[in-house]
Amino acid sequence: MAKYMLEVKDLTTKYITRNREDVYSVDHVSLTIEEGKSLGIAGESGCGKSTLALSLMGYYFPPLHYTSGSIIIDGKNISGMDPDTVRKNVLGSEVAYIPQAAMNAMNPTRKVGKFIEDVMKAHEIKMSKKEIRQMAKERFALLGLPVEALDKYSVELSGGMRQRVVIAVSTILNPKVLIADEPSSALDVTSQKMVIKMLKDMMAKGLVKSMIFITHELPLLYNVTDDIMVMYAGQIVERGSAKEMVFDPVHPYSRGLMRSILVPEEGTRDVKLTAIPGTPPNLKHPPAGCRFAERCRYATPNCRDYSVPMTDLGGGRCYRCNFSAEELREVYQRED
Ligand SMILES: Nc1ncnc2c1ncn2[C@@H]1O[C@H](COP(=O)(O)OP(=O)(O)O)[C@@H](O)[C@H]1O
Ligand SMILES: [Mg+2]
Repeated sequence: MAKYMLEVKDLTTKYITRNREDVYSVDHVSLTIEEGKSLGIAGESGCGKSTLALSLMGYYFPPLHYTSGSIIIDGKNISGMDPDTVRKNVLGSEVAYIPQAAMNAMNPTRKVGKFIEDVMKAHEIKMSKKEIRQMAKERFALLGLPVEALDKYSVELSGGMRQRVVIAVSTILNPKVLIADEPSSALDVTSQKMVIKMLKDMMAKGLVKSMIFITHELPLLYNVTDDIMVMYAGQIVERGSAKEMVFDPVHPYSRGLMRSILVPEEGTRDVKLTAIPGTPPNLKHPPAGCRFAERCRYATPNCRDYSVPMTDLGGGRCYRCNFSAEELREVYQRED
């Protein structure tokens, strides 16, 4: 039987704002990733992708708070662990997080090699400087990064190289789950491709056991991750294989997201560019019914009034809509 590297059950986390209002940015999220597999998470800005990423590490500090649910990494439940234990025993080794614009987060006054020493020290790894240096050299060579970069300051490297260096350093402890939050969004097309190639290479070489790749562009994930999950207003609205999600999205939002930004060269269908009209709901006061209803051209009063559960289509495919997959596909076919 396939082994899960990550199992998340009903995870809910919230921000408590200065005005003491609750903002549930991750709302009853459940997901699994098998060993050796990758999951892409797509959705518009503000839908909760980064909050989910932070929440998955089990490391909470205000204004973000854990509310309920469980996070199991390679069989170990990390939800409810105290922050100190998480920092020492989970971050970096169990789960590694590459934040948005990570390439700018490297200390400009430390050389890359010293930065790696800092990382090892923070994780209380008992290795001499010489051993760390050797390990870093081997890892850089394995990932096709120039070993000379170890003796450079981050500012001496190009944006793309800096990002790849940060990824190499963050994963030096071979994490079971790597979460890359928009790792290529700030880069030019060539650097983007190199970052994605390196991440896939790390997965293929088993340096990381599973991966989550976050982006606001759904089509980017085609050919990058095995599965794709779409988030809307703090909830999952659909999940399936990358192929299914790109060529046969069921949820009206996934379909809108797929059609709003198309990259024909990636093999996606050549349909016209259309943005989804409207804006997502305010998470301080989410609607009672389907969160997408207000922007959905197919919504009925029923959709607006009652919350919508997930429908499991089997084979890892699920979606959150009142209409059946057959009804939706039929409507789409008529429209095309
Ligand atoms: N520090 C914060 N305090 C209160 N609410 C926040 C904070 N950061 C984010 N949020 C809320 O969480 C939602 C999700 O944010 P985020 O996870 O950054 O989205 P994404 O990464 O998908 O763009 C936002 O729409 C916002 O309402
Ligand atoms: Mg984000």
